[in-house]
Amino acid sequence: IHSSAKEGSKAIAQEIAALIRERQAANQKCVLGLATGSTPKYLYAELVRLHKEEGLSFKNVISFNLDEYYPIEPDALQSYNRFMKEHLFNHVDIPEGNCHVPDGTIPKEQIKKYCEEYDRAIEAAGGIDIQILGIGNNGHIGFNEPGSNINSHTRLITLDNSTRLANAYEFPNMSQVPRLAITMGIGSIMKAKRVLLMAWGSHKAKIVCRSVEGHSTDQVPASLLQQHPNCKFIIDEQAAAELT
Ligand code: F6R
Repeated sequence: IHSSAKEGSKAIAQEIAALIRERQAANQKCVLGLATGSTPKYLYAELVRLHKEEGLSFKNVISFNLDEYYPIEPDALQSYNRFMKEHLFNHVDIPEGNCHVPDGTIPKEQIKKYCEEYDRAIEAAGGIDIQILGIGNNGHIGFNEPGSNINSHTRLITLDNSTRLANAYEFPNMSQVPRLAITMGIGSIMKAKRVLLMAWGSHKAKIVCRSVEGHSTDQVPASLLQQHPNCKFIIDEQAAAELT
């Protein structure tokens, strides 16, 4: 529990930077699983600062993002492809070919194969070393909505209405919020070697409490992380307010 979102984000940035540097020293790759949304913005700002001011290189980093709306063009204002370029990729020295964000333009009949290949690419890279997560008000991680199976793979998913409502501020109006998304599965997330979930603000307090102190159930997808051997919640005091 940190005093603020900024302090918590700095701590995570240090943890990530330490692994990147350790891998660089051993001439090895570092595989990061990345999230979008409002939660990781401070983290990416801090990683960019570490690159610009402290010489942290991302040349040995391979990244896989959790999710993308479907359908969506990569340069649309709300696209997570665009988000990642604007907040991280364009400001650090990560090779373009190392960055993977699900493609929201894949024809529907090819999505199943595309998703299988996404999971295979993660495995081929050696698996995710650190998975960054935010949490939805309904407990979703990635876009794995309640009811998602603990063994689920990358797939096309129907967004809950509550998720569309929560994200409506990004779109001109509710009717334009996509109904579908491509998301890494819970099984894909559970395979990560280390999972770091961030939550900031009082509006996340209830769901943080249910995820950490409630039963581990697919009705609260983040609570399934209780079964992960190396998972940490990094939260601010407001998000911690309901913990007993
Ligand atoms: C985004 C993602 C989602 C968000 C969650 C919280 O890539 O995977 O699970 O982390 O919807 O969103 P924010 O951070 O906007 O509160």
